[in-house]
Amino acid sequence: MNAIDIIAKKRDGLKLNKDEIDFMINSYTNGDIPDYQMSAFLMAIYLNGMDDYESFLLTDSMLKSGDVLDLSMIDGIKVDKHSTGGVGDKTTLVVGPIVASLGIKVAKMSGRGLGHTGGTIDKLESIPGYNVNLSEDEFIKQIEKIGIAIIGPTKSLAPADKKLYALRDVTATVSSIPLIASSIMSKKLAAGTDVIVLDVKVGSGAFMKTIDDAKKLAELMVSIGKSFNKKVIAMLTDMNDPLGLAIGNNLEVIEAINTLNGKGPKDFTDLCLLASAELIVAAGYAKTVEDATKLAKKQIDNKKALDKFAELVKYQYGDPSYVYEPKKFASAPFIIPIKASKSGYIHKIDALTIGNASMRLGAGRLKLDDKINHRVGILLNKKSGDYVKEGDILAYIHSVKEDNLEIEEMIKKAYLIDESKYSPRLILDVIK
Ligand code: URA
Repeated sequence: MNAIDIIAKKRDGLKLNKDEIDFMINSYTNGDIPDYQMSAFLMAIYLNGMDDYESFLLTDSMLKSGDVLDLSMIDGIKVDKHSTGGVGDKTTLVVGPIVASLGIKVAKMSGRGLGHTGGTIDKLESIPGYNVNLSEDEFIKQIEKIGIAIIGPTKSLAPADKKLYALRDVTATVSSIPLIASSIMSKKLAAGTDVIVLDVKVGSGAFMKTIDDAKKLAELMVSIGKSFNKKVIAMLTDMNDPLGLAIGNNLEVIEAINTLNGKGPKDFTDLCLLASAELIVAAGYAKTVEDATKLAKKQIDNKKALDKFAELVKYQYGDPSYVYEPKKFASAPFIIPIKASKSGYIHKIDALTIGNASMRLGAGRLKLDDKINHRVGILLNKKSGDYVKEGDILAYIHSVKEDNLEIEEMIKKAYLIDESKYSPRLILDVIK
């Protein structure tokens, strides 16, 4: 078997078998296939696709490239939640504590932000002391003890994905349905939970720009999960607009804490309640999503979810006083209002533009080893569907610089204002 024949087979639109896929993944992970051949292989998959069975084989091969966590020593159902990536998405910080406060075990490995999208690990590192680098052993022990751990990816889990994702990032092969599905599902399956709720983002700020593509990705991931005997639920949610009001690390953690105090923005709260409810039902703690939503709301009202978040922070060496006094988070030295240049209803706040503007302020990174600034970002003051008058404040820039003219222009242009009324839709579908 050799790489050239396998690349040529996929280039010509033929189906690959298990041995061929295993050969490519194992040889690339071991360093026996160079980046230029793997780049050609990835582009052939990008252009010609893979059927469901090939996607399953690719996932299986990537999953087996490293450790598969055995969580069987932890009692009860273990759950995980994953978003395909977006702008202002701090959902894990709320959903994890809600679900764990009910006694459901949450085992979550998250990523860092790249490009216009944010990452949960960067957000958690806004809390002084929070350690995202637990060993696999410490991860398991913490879940046994307090029911939740949120850490960064360990080196030994799905190493094939780490190498492949870095290569896809620089070869324009990220937004391929089989490549995204196998990348996400290999990591989720390696983390060893019984239930996985996926939040598949759709829109300008997401990898999937259309509902049809997002549905295909969601259905593929649910079907891969089922082939491994896991319960997988995929929500399809809007990412034309940023989620919630806050974009940027400290700002997003503060918004998550406000939400755990029952004072979050409506769209973000609704999404957190739905994701929590799906996990609660799948874990067998409620029969219907309606009952589960009531349970999730109760954990916010009685502050048990907030206390669980503080406990998580404490166990991962962070300072839990920030959870109870979010005013302690350092703010940026310059807070600059952006005003509406005309009156009307907001139809869109382009998530891609807002994500890029936030990255340029320093909240995100272009390359994975870039340093980020936790204090900067954008706080929206008006959301899609709102009516604004000319001169009303649309958003605030939180910056370390006084002069942000280009970024101010970007944010103004991201707001699409029109005379007609508009009602945005956040939850587009749920696939089980
Ligand atoms: N998130 C991942 O983990 N992998 C992808 O390919 C895309 C989003």
